[in-house]
Amino acid sequence: MMLPKLLSLIALPALAAANCKTTPGDAAWPSIEEWSALNQSIGGSLIRTAPAASSCYAGNPLGSSYNCSSVKDHWSYAAYHAAWPESNDYSIYNNNSCVPPGVAGYTKDKGCSIGGMPQYIVNATTEEQVATAMSWASQRDIRIVVKSTGHDLNGRSTGAYSLSIWTHNFNHIHHNSTWHVPGTNKTADVLICGGGNNWGTVYTSAVTQHNRTVVGGEDATVGLGGLIQNGGHGLLSSHYGLASDNVYQVTVITPEGHILTANDAQNQDIFWAVRGAGGGQFGVVTEFILKTHPIPENVVTGGLTIYASNNSNVSELASWTAFAETASQIPYLMDSGITGTIMAATGKSASTYAGVDEVLAGPAVIISLIAYNTTVQAMNTTLYNLSTQLTDNTTRITTKFTPPTSQPYWSYIKPNFLASQSAGASSLFTSRLLGKSELSSLPQADLIYYLQQISASQSGSGSLLIFGLQGGPGTANVPEQRRGSVLPSWRSAYAHVMAYGGSVNETGDPAASLAEAAEWYESVLEPVWRNWAPNMGAYMNEGNPFSSTWKRDFYGDGYERLVEVKRRYDPRGSLWVYSGVGSDEWEFDLRSGLLCRV
Ligand SMILES: Cc1cc2nc3c(=O)[nH]c(=O)nc-3n(C[C@H](O)[C@H](O)[C@H](O)COP(=O)(O)OP(=O)(O)OC[C@H]3O[C@@H](n4cnc5c(N)ncnc54)[C@H](O)[C@@H]3O)c2cc1C
Ligand SMILES: *[C@@H]1O[C@H](CO)[C@@H](O)[C@H](O)[C@H]1NC(C)=O
Ligand SMILES: *[C@@H]1O[C@H](CO)[C@@H](O)[C@H](O)[C@H]1NC(C)=O
Ligand SMILES: *[C@@H]1O[C@H](CO)[C@@H](O)[C@H](O)[C@H]1NC(C)=O
Ligand SMILES: *[C@@H]1O[C@H](CO)[C@@H](O)[C@H](O)[C@H]1NC(C)=O
Ligand SMILES: *[C@@H]1O[C@H](CO)[C@@H](O)[C@H](O)[C@H]1NC(C)=O
Ligand SMILES: *[C@@H]1O[C@H](CO)[C@@H](O)[C@H](O)[C@H]1NC(C)=O
Ligand SMILES: *[C@@H]1O[C@H](CO)[C@@H](O)[C@H](O)[C@H]1NC(C)=O
Ligand SMILES: *[C@@H]1O[C@H](CO)[C@@H](O)[C@H](O)[C@H]1NC(C)=O
Ligand SMILES: *[C@@H]1O[C@H](CO)[C@@H](O)[C@H](O)[C@H]1NC(C)=O
Ligand SMILES: *[C@@H]1O[C@H](CO)[C@@H](O)[C@H](O)[C@H]1NC(C)=O
Ligand SMILES: *[C@@H]1O[C@H](CO)[C@@H](O)[C@H](O)[C@H]1NC(C)=O
Ligand SMILES: *[C@@H]1O[C@H](CO)[C@@H](O)[C@H](O)[C@H]1NC(C)=O
Repeated sequence: MMLPKLLSLIALPALAAANCKTTPGDAAWPSIEEWSALNQSIGGSLIRTAPAASSCYAGNPLGSSYNCSSVKDHWSYAAYHAAWPESNDYSIYNNNSCVPPGVAGYTKDKGCSIGGMPQYIVNATTEEQVATAMSWASQRDIRIVVKSTGHDLNGRSTGAYSLSIWTHNFNHIHHNSTWHVPGTNKTADVLICGGGNNWGTVYTSAVTQHNRTVVGGEDATVGLGGLIQNGGHGLLSSHYGLASDNVYQVTVITPEGHILTANDAQNQDIFWAVRGAGGGQFGVVTEFILKTHPIPENVVTGGLTIYASNNSNVSELASWTAFAETASQIPYLMDSGITGTIMAATGKSASTYAGVDEVLAGPAVIISLIAYNTTVQAMNTTLYNLSTQLTDNTTRITTKFTPPTSQPYWSYIKPNFLASQSAGASSLFTSRLLGKSELSSLPQADLIYYLQQISASQSGSGSLLIFGLQGGPGTANVPEQRRGSVLPSWRSAYAHVMAYGGSVNETGDPAASLAEAAEWYESVLEPVWRNWAPNMGAYMNEGNPFSSTWKRDFYGDGYERLVEVKRRYDPRGSLWVYSGVGSDEWEFDLRSGLLCRV
């Protein structure tokens, strides 16, 4: 009886003082003079948030330095949100606080406020600035967020009443072909990259200057920071493992202001944590040292599109059967060195993707395969073999080939920064990692049943599934030593499957719209994954942050150890993200902006 009483006595004062993170309405919020003093101590790098779209509102109330037509024209371009210090790509997660008229999320009477965005931003260029600003904010119980590009799909690089550390200008890149790997007598060919780089600049440097490549994402504007720390898949992950499996060292700055070099020989616990479970949760990574790989000799692509040839029941069933056959072939294709993407759409989306006018019965399956160091003939054979396996070669299924072509690696991946018009809308989706057991070793009738269930759509107008062929031999063969905290089921996963059936009401109150969509996923799609793949989990960068089973889904067996590391490096809980490690010790209300201990 004594022990619990003592414990609660010790815990009480801290809890009473720090129930919620400090907000501008609190007496404890720093005065203008105190913010100025912080600014001076970090070389004048502090920015007061001035939302880009403020110029679209009468009198430019928050002092944007960009004109409204430019902001509006570029709202869908990820590269612009990366360059606007306060912005994130999916504004629903900043409560649609200041969006230009005409874009998704705009409502007439809302106006423009800082609202759900950070209050101040550190435009950091030195590690000391990051350390000083983070410890200053932590001591004052001010929430800290970290932004590299703002690409995060779950709003994890923004937050109300926070101080944002913007890593954008940690953009150095150096090559070292004989870098000494700590804790070994070996050297490795590495790229030493500032934590604010995006993949486009890193690939450009690696390939065009150093005749090497790295494992990273597919979109040029996506950043290293969030992609690597939460795993990271891409065109080479099915050969060389995830981005986080290819990290030899990080420089990480903790919320208490410690600047740490972390690798296999020192600070191993935080090194482990930031390799897979850690964007914006344990500290700010200002530098990554990445293993490089030889450039593939060529890239061969080719594809196949299949759909029901008419609206008869037999044709519809044949299209589901062909889809199931395709899914079951994924592990074998990948074991033979193939990667790529398979999309399956139903309803209106099926007609769009299949390029036909009428609404199709059953799914349209769009298979886009990629292979390296091979010939168009070999890919052609693969596609023809696949097509005969998929269909019972009657007229029930329409099959269209995309003839294979070969091109040099660089012309295939060459970055186009303005190609990414992925920003500006909002969507919520769910995903799952699937292995041989879930794809190839179950009765076909069961597989068809799961594929149909996971193709449900909230609006009834059609669904979209995307199978990324991103695990397989690459993630399975990573040596134990190089595996960080990333979800262990990546080691047996072949496909990372995203399901987009839900709809988010863009014009509603963001908190309510997200809650409503989350509720639909929780009751309709999440149970399908839990039945189909109970032990697999999901890729947290492209997953449903509101899943009730997020701990197991995103972290698996590593969760308890991650909580210990989190407590060690961020004892005050300065860094908080949706479905982050220990995030359930807090409650964040998007509507009030308050982040409070539960
Ligand atoms: C168009 C598009 C394409 C994508 N393609 C891929 C893909 O091919 N492969 C893939 O794996 N994922 C992909 N993703 C998902 C992507 O990995 C995530 O959106 C990821 O969070 C982006 O990281 P970021 O640093 O660019 O974004 P940010 O929004 O800046 O950051 C994301 C998270 O990481 C944290 N963070 C960022 N930088 C740092 C840092 N230096 N130190 C500490 N914390 C940091 C932030 O706090 C936040 O929690 C894609 C996303 C989009 C929108
Ligand atoms: C920080 O200092 C710089 C340089 O003096 C100044 O330009 C900037 O406006 C200051 N930031 C804030 C928030 O006051
Ligand atoms: C707005 O800014 C863009 C880009 O800086 C510029 O090209 C354009 O002329 C500006 N338009 C107006 C109306 O000022
Ligand atoms: C978030 O948006 C809602 C609905 O528009 C609004 O009522 C609320 O005040 C906003 N909250 C913040 C912190 O801006
Ligand atoms: C951020 O800092 C860099 C380097 O000092 C500077 O070039 C850039 O203009 C700054 N950006 C903003 C938005 O203040
Ligand atoms: C490469 O890294 C090693 C340490 O691991 C260092 O001794 C060497 O000078 C570096 N080479 C270059 C070219 O920077
Ligand atoms: C590195 O080499 C030294 C000298 O040959 C040896 O003593 C040491 O055990 C080696 N270390 C490792 C980790 O292999
Ligand atoms: C680039 O690397 C490949 C091996 O991956 C090698 O065959 C080729 O000669 C190199 N090219 C140059 C210009 O060094
Ligand atoms: C492709 O071939 C090159 C050169 O022979 C080799 O170094 C590289 O590892 C191969 N890449 C893949 C992905 O198989
Ligand atoms: C691909 O295979 C088909 C069927 O075997 C054949 O008709 C076609 O000529 C092949 N195309 C190429 C480019 O090899
Ligand atoms: C169907 O395919 C098999 C081989 O898979 C072939 O033997 C048979 O002739 C084909 N039938 C038709 C009608 O094309
Ligand atoms: C649909 O296609 C099948 C052949 O697979 C054919 O027998 C049937 O008559 C067609 N039905 C309609 C309604 O066109
Ligand atoms: C979206 O939310 C708005 C505001 O609450 C509401 O008026 C509208 O009917 C909703 N739309 C849908 C499709 O639910």
